[in-house]
Amino acid sequence: MAIIPGILPPSLENWQLIEWAWRFFPLFTAVQWLTDWYPQGKTSSSSRLNIPGKWAWFTMEAPGFIILLYIMFTLPTKLGIAELPWGNWAMAGMFTIHYLYRAIAAPLFLNPSMSPIHLLVWFFALAWQFANAISLGGWLAGYGPITAYDWKGQLYLAEIGMIIWGWSLLGNIYHDDDLREIRRAAARRQKREAEKSGQPEEGVDKVYMLPKNGLFQFVLYAHYFCEWMEWAGFWMVGGWNCTPARSFLLNEIATMLPRALQGRRWYVEKFGADKVGNRKAVIPGLL
Ligand SMILES: NC(=O)c1ccc[n+]([C@@H]2O[C@H](COP(=O)([O-])OP(=O)(O)OC[C@H]3O[C@@H](n4cnc5c(N)ncnc54)[C@H](OP(=O)(O)O)[C@@H]3O)[C@@H](O)[C@H]2O)c1
Repeated sequence: MAIIPGILPPSLENWQLIEWAWRFFPLFTAVQWLTDWYPQGKTSSSSRLNIPGKWAWFTMEAPGFIILLYIMFTLPTKLGIAELPWGNWAMAGMFTIHYLYRAIAAPLFLNPSMSPIHLLVWFFALAWQFANAISLGGWLAGYGPITAYDWKGQLYLAEIGMIIWGWSLLGNIYHDDDLREIRRAAARRQKREAEKSGQPEEGVDKVYMLPKNGLFQFVLYAHYFCEWMEWAGFWMVGGWNCTPARSFLLNEIATMLPRALQGRRWYVEKFGADKVGNRKAVIPGLL
């Protein structure tokens, strides 16, 4: 059963159009270079249109892997494909594992607190997930490789890509957790002080410190860097001709790079240039 006829799952024509248009997403991120208004995370502001951070992350990120899996389970039957090759399922699995962490485990179970997100940012992130999942899902579920033979020349690159993907996912989780530890430590400190003084705890919303471990010694957005490496590995698995995986990586960089550079300016303002030192924003030694 099609949820939205021609779109979910996508017809060949619609998939080709969406996949092609999605390549031009970086043009839309030009606006991020022109303004520092980005009501999310460190730069969130109070607004009646804010959504609580944890629920915003869950609802804007989870549709991506749900849509991708829906396409994987519906499109092949529509196209008369009996069985998709292992490489297609491996990539769908990699995508799903990442988003089980990003959309469910991190916001709902692991992060001590998350700043609210403005409805507009939430909406764009949701639209991003829709476009990306349809672009990748269509390729993986029938409009890309459909036999083991299609993957034949690709095996070594796919293996190397999976290794890069796996280590980078661990790197992303490690650095995310280093940020969490800042608030967990603050919560422990507050609890001890509250026990001594009998005063209530303040809470750890908006508690920020300079992260220092792992790649944070070199860049302030080490978790972003690891995520880019992760999706670069994913693109390798699909092969250099896998345009949906290429768009996925380039579109993430297009929106996250200006955010990381803005974040570095924020750190300098909050903690001072001497404390930030020569740490770059996101790419060690470069940017
Ligand atoms: N932002 C994007 O466009 C985007 C796109 C794709 C993937 N991702 C991935 O999603 C994850 C989160 O991204 P994000 O943009 O939300 O990252 P972020 O701004 O660095 O925030 C990550 C989490 O850590 C907290 N935090 C950040 N800096 C901190 C500090 N100095 N001290 C203490 N806590 C701190 C944040 O709290 P607050 O919310 O209260 O600031 C938030 O809960 C990353 O792994 C990233 O790779 C992000």
